Amino acid sequence: MTSKPAILITGASSGIGAVYADRFAKRGHDLVLVARDGARLASLAERLRSETGVAVDVLQADLTAAADIARVEARLRDDSRIGVLVNNAGAAGHGGFLDQSPDQAADLINLNVTALTRLARAVAQRFVESGAGAIVNIGSVVGLAPEFSMATYGATKAFVLFLSQGLHLELGPKGVYVQAVLPSVTRTEIWERSGRDVDALPAVMETAELVDAALVGFDRRETVTIPPLPDSGQWDAFDAARQAMVPNFMQAHAAERYRAAA
Ligand SMILES: NC(=O)c1ccc[n+]([C@@H]2O[C@H](COP(=O)([O-])OP(=O)(O)OC[C@H]3O[C@@H](n4cnc5c(N)ncnc54)[C@H](OP(=O)(O)O)[C@@H]3O)[C@@H](O)[C@H]2O)c1
Repeated sequence: MTSKPAILITGASSGIGAVYADRFAKRGHDLVLVARDGARLASLAERLRSETGVAVDVLQADLTAAADIARVEARLRDDSRIGVLVNNAGAAGHGGFLDQSPDQAADLINLNVTALTRLARAVAQRFVESGAGAIVNIGSVVGLAPEFSMATYGATKAFVLFLSQGLHLELGPKGVYVQAVLPSVTRTEIWERSGRDVDALPAVMETAELVDAALVGFDRRETVTIPPLPDSGQWDAFDAARQAMVPNFMQAHAAERYRAAA
């Protein structure tokens, strides 16, 4: 057994989550891998055990199924070896808002928002009590760009960013590190799963490059990591503009432009 914390990674059966698993195993962390496809998780676990010698547990779970997510929440609450949660499982959904049925939109929110929040909540209490731990939430640049025509998906990812910033403010002073990672287009199965052709897009990042960059941000304890953004000053300016508004929200009267003409 290592003295390093174990890492629970959701959506570890493919794409970004599988690379996180590889990288944390190579850093010597034991792992708990979560996804629906048990066979893929088992074969990844076997490879990582033999290549790195770490202990890897597989937790087959559909995070949109109540009984399954309850098992993952219990593991996060009760297993004190787990010191990092990588909240990565997610889906993009097909087409635009009108292409998705109400049930499909709700399913997307259930996975990308409800499950992610429940898992963060499940682990946060223990992390705060021990004064340590990290929660990594995988958002998306789409959460900053309604122009990308993925309204429901983008809204779920805007939620992930906001939740991460809120948790950073609330849990950071209690010793818990929270990171939001905002990838842009990355070559994973999410594209074919949502009926899109990734090769039709102008620039595609490989998963290894994305995760290695995200881990640079993790090691620096960044709150928001946007691997593809060349100029971090643009994010800083955006966030500064938002913060400049905050003191102006508390007003007893509507702004002049909304006052009804006498
Ligand atoms: N690829 C991109 O361009 C991109 C860009 C921005 C953000 N992201 C975000 O990156 C994260 C990882 O996605 P990816 O790109 O690596 O796609 P991916 O290869 O499709 O991986 C998604 C993972 O989530 C798991 N998953 C899906 N539904 C699940 C459910 N109901 N319960 C449990 N696990 C479930 C999948 O495994 P099973 O099918 O085995 O359950 C898989 O391991 C997502 O949050 C995504 O929104 C991706």
